[in-house]
Amino acid sequence: MEHASTFFHGLPYLTGAALLLGLLWRLRRWQRVVARPAPLFPAPDTTPAAWAQIAAEVCLLGGRRSAFAAGIVAAWCLHATLLLLAVGHCRAVADFPGLWAVLGLTVKDVDRFGAVAGSAAGLAALAAVAALAVRRLASPALRVASRPQDFLALALLAAVLASGLFMRLAGRTELADVRAYCAALAALRPGPMPQAPGFAVHFLLAQALAVYLPWGKLLHAFGVFPAKAGLRAATFPPADAAGGAS
Ligand code: HEM
Repeated sequence: MEHASTFFHGLPYLTGAALLLGLLWRLRRWQRVVARPAPLFPAPDTTPAAWAQIAAEVCLLGGRRSAFAAGIVAAWCLHATLLLLAVGHCRAVADFPGLWAVLGLTVKDVDRFGAVAGSAAGLAALAAVAALAVRRLASPALRVASRPQDFLALALLAAVLASGLFMRLAGRTELADVRAYCAALAALRPGPMPQAPGFAVHFLLAQALAVYLPWGKLLHAFGVFPAKAGLRAATFPPADAAGGAS
């Protein structure tokens, strides 16, 4: 019993290490890809205007427009709601009374807003995951192109979202306990998990997602900017690189 408890206390650190090492390993592999000596891949355009255009493309999921128009609403909804949930989760690990005072809000106001916005974002994210899974199964072309890991990513996301929503809708989560647990973890003095129903499952599933992240398609969250920059360079070579090639 004591061994199990030690394991659960240490698990978040193992998860953090696995995530970090996985990301570093993938980064190293990307760096090792050798470009051909012929200038087939001109130097990327790194001007602020080019980065702004890439950012706009990423926000509008521009690269998917032509080939996957049907899923763009679900994909956009999923990305936007995950971003909202990430912002909302900052309050699960820390509170910001100074900010609420500046905004003229009481803690009750923020709690009420968090409950409505968090539940709406969670439900919308879950609906988007379901829509993306159904689309993969319903389209024969997409079904053939899908690998088991595409469904694994969606299933893991759905499980984390559903367990978070369970906690939110059960309404018995003491955020003060969650914050104390996170602060103790950060101070390398892990304490007992909060007793909130569903917390252990939600936290374990979120850790499974974190460990899986470097190995599956969710890694695009980290690779999208370098990939877009490379694609743009190949499609729109900067003037000086094109000149150098002639
Ligand atoms: C990919 C990672 C995660 C996703 C997608 C996710 C998703 C969700 C969703 C949809 C909710 C319900 C809506 C809301 O209250 O905002 C929720 C609640 C919650 N999550 Fe997560 N979560 C993730 C990671 C984590 C982690 C790592 C923790 C640990 C600190 C955590 C702690 C909580 C808590 C305490 C609640 C309940 C908040 C409340 O009821 O006041 N979540 N999560």
